[in-house]
Order: sequence, then structure tokens, then C-alpha cells
Amino acid sequence: MSADLIIRRARIFDPSQNLDEVGDILIRNGKVQALGTQVVVPSGKPIPELDAKGWLVTPGWIDIHTHLREPGQTHKETIRTGTEAAAAGGFTSIACMANTKPVNDSSFITTYIQQKVASESSINVYPIGAITKGLEGQELAEIGSMWEAGIVAISDDGKTVMNSYLMRKALDYSKRFNLAVVCHAEDAHLKGRGVMNEGFNSARFGLRGIPKASEEIIVARDILLTELTGARLHVAHVSTVGSVALIREAKRRGIQITAEVTPHHLTLTDEVVGTYDTNTKVAPPLREPQDIEAVTEALADGTIDALASDHAPHSVEDKEVEYDHAEFGMVGLETAFPLYYRVALQKGVSLKRIISAMTHKPAEIIGVSKGTLKVGADADITIFDPEMKYRINKNEFRSKSKNTPFDGWDVQGKVRYTIVAGKIVYQENAGGNR
Ligand code: DOR
Ligand code: ZN
Repeated sequence: MSADLIIRRARIFDPSQNLDEVGDILIRNGKVQALGTQVVVPSGKPIPELDAKGWLVTPGWIDIHTHLREPGQTHKETIRTGTEAAAAGGFTSIACMANTKPVNDSSFITTYIQQKVASESSINVYPIGAITKGLEGQELAEIGSMWEAGIVAISDDGKTVMNSYLMRKALDYSKRFNLAVVCHAEDAHLKGRGVMNEGFNSARFGLRGIPKASEEIIVARDILLTELTGARLHVAHVSTVGSVALIREAKRRGIQITAEVTPHHLTLTDEVVGTYDTNTKVAPPLREPQDIEAVTEALADGTIDALASDHAPHSVEDKEVEYDHAEFGMVGLETAFPLYYRVALQKGVSLKRIISAMTHKPAEIIGVSKGTLKVGADADITIFDPEMKYRINKNEFRSKSKNTPFDGWDVQGKVRYTIVAGKIVYQENAGGNR
């Protein structure tokens, strides 16, 4: 294993240092030692070279919303397959959600995940701890001891903490550790047994609806509780015009709030639910054209800080059932980038904003020193070909689960290399059958 490498003739694109120039990157001992047009190659033992002409080289991408399913549901995904999928998708770091079985609500589970990661993953994995024990919304999880073990945020993602008093306590307590509280915003009672966005299309398709208000009520509540406590809130998978307006206003008022949007909420409307393909069933649900417009604009102007996949693997048994009975969620790690890039190409969101939202912004939210190619930083690097066009094929996924509505989509922008601490952990075509 060599942690020395020279990347040649790259278009180095690093929003954290306002950099967009053609040059070389010298990596020694897993760190960025020099970059730019004047890199001097040290004499002595030759260093492996990678010619990146025509490709973009960015800080390694970070996905702060991944469901790895281990422990407990390893038929859907394991730490090994999930991190392989992440590397193939260009991600050098991911944060994994707490809704495993058992839930990551104690330092024991956090440590278990970290030990598995140490032996089975070639990328960085940062566990997120639960807010409440068992995600049951009744009492706080062991937040302090999980923080000591290394969690980077707390979240009951998949469920909303419906008890406002408990949510206040969690926000209050999180300040001690400067942990972001990640909110999954869906009022459980308003959502009820809804399976898609409530509106014209839910009536047309004969499916129970989930009103946008179910999201916006929780976003509004959590903004108020964040103001009350002075904590730090991160809103997961923003999906409506109303949520965007609330977040924009909260930021204007100086409340410490950040937000993310997923590839699917940027690219799909509830129209696609009319296929009754259960891979379109996701929480929060796919919304309407005006919502896509709002989240896209919010991404462009920075109201939405980060991009996040919400990679949610489910087995065939969970998905090949009636729409009402299918699980919520779709895989995302291996399709995220070309969908984000599509937003840049088709909607005019700048590449700088897209890459920021995949690198230094998510790093800030979870408080890790990643997302930059500054000299001295860990050499976590993603290299992609901005011109290459290809068709998404779910059978090529490394992920154990194939639940995607994007199979067969023609996209542009392909990951070529994923590099963690100077080591190549994914290489396009290395597998042979692509
Ligand atoms: O669609 C979703 N699936 N949304 C979530 O918030 C949770 C996720 C899951 O764990 O399957
Ligand atoms: Zn969620």
C-alpha cells in the first residue's frame, strides 16, 4: 500500500480555497504535500503517477446521510457493501444513520460500527447517534457516551421526535458537545398512513397522501426550539417550498441552521408515482414541480448548504409488494453525483456550489476536518470525467440493494478514481465488466 502519489495535469477544483486551475497534486504519506503549477517532484524513489488530463479533481466527496443497515439488516446492506458502493459513487467519507437494528443509541453500538469499519471499509465512516433510545421518542439516548465514542451528530432519522419537550432537551444537551441535531421532519400524525405527496396526483392515483404541512410543521417547530436553546439544527432532505422559506427566514434571523437536499428531491416529481413503481416511495415523498424549483434555487443561493443521498437500501421483498405496503427509501450512493451534475448542467446551479455542497459544507456540518485539498490536508480526493455520458444500470451497483427509480437514465459525469489518504480505493473499469 502506497500513500504517495502524483496526480498530473488535473483540473484542480476546490471551492474551499477558491481554486480552479490546471496543475499537479503531490501526495506524500497520505497528505496533500503540494499542488498547483509549480509542484517539484522529489528525487529518490519514484512516486506513482496518475494522469488526470481532461478530468476534474476535487476534495473527496462527503455524504452525511447514508443508511448502512448493519447491524441488523445485512440482507439489505452491510458496512462492506455500503462503503464499496460509496467509493464507487466517489465518496471518501460518509456519515451513517442510527436506525440500524439494534439502533445506534449507545457507545456499545457506536464502537461496534467503528470496529467493523476499521476492518471492512476503505473509506471514512462517521456514525450518527440516535436522539432517543430505540428511536422510540420516549427518553434520550446515551448521547454523552456516544459522543465520547466518536459520533458526529444525533438523529432519529426515519422517525421524527414528536415530543417537543424531549426535542428541546436533546437540542439543549447537544450544545455541550457542539453536535448538530439532524431532524427528519414529518409529523407522524399528519403523515398517518400516507404513502405519497398529497395533492392532485395522489387523488388521481388513488393513493393516500402526505401533506406538505407535515414536513413544514416540524421544520417550523425545530427552528423555534433551536432559537430557544441556541443549539445547532440540520434539516435532512428538505422537500417543499414552505420548508425552504422557513429555513431561509431562520438563517436571516441568525439561527444556527443548515439543510440538505437529496438527488431525488431535486430531479423527480410525484408524477412518477403513477408508474406504481415502489422505488419511487420515499420519505419525505417526492413533491411537485414548484418544490423542485424551490429546492434548486435554495441550493443555488446556499439556503440549502449540502447535498446528501439518503441512501436507503431495501430488499426485493420489501419493495415488490403493493405500493401501500412497500418500505420508504431508495438507494443513492451510486447515482448521486450524475444527478447532482445534471442539476448543474440543466438548471444552471454552479459547479462550485455543487462541489461545495459535497465537500467542505458537509464537513462543517458534522465537524470533521475534511473537504479540502489545502496543503497538509488528508489526501481524500475524487476524480471525475465531466464529459463522459453513460446509462445507469442497477445491476452494476456494488450496493446489495437495487431499489432505484433511476435505472436506465442517461446521465453525464463519471467517477474515475476515489482516493482516500492517498490510496486508490476505487478505479473505474478496474472490475473488468463495466
Ligand atoms: O425514505 C426513507 N428511508 N427515508 C428515511 O428517512 C429513512 C429511510 C430508511 O431508513 O429506509
Ligand atoms: Zn430521513
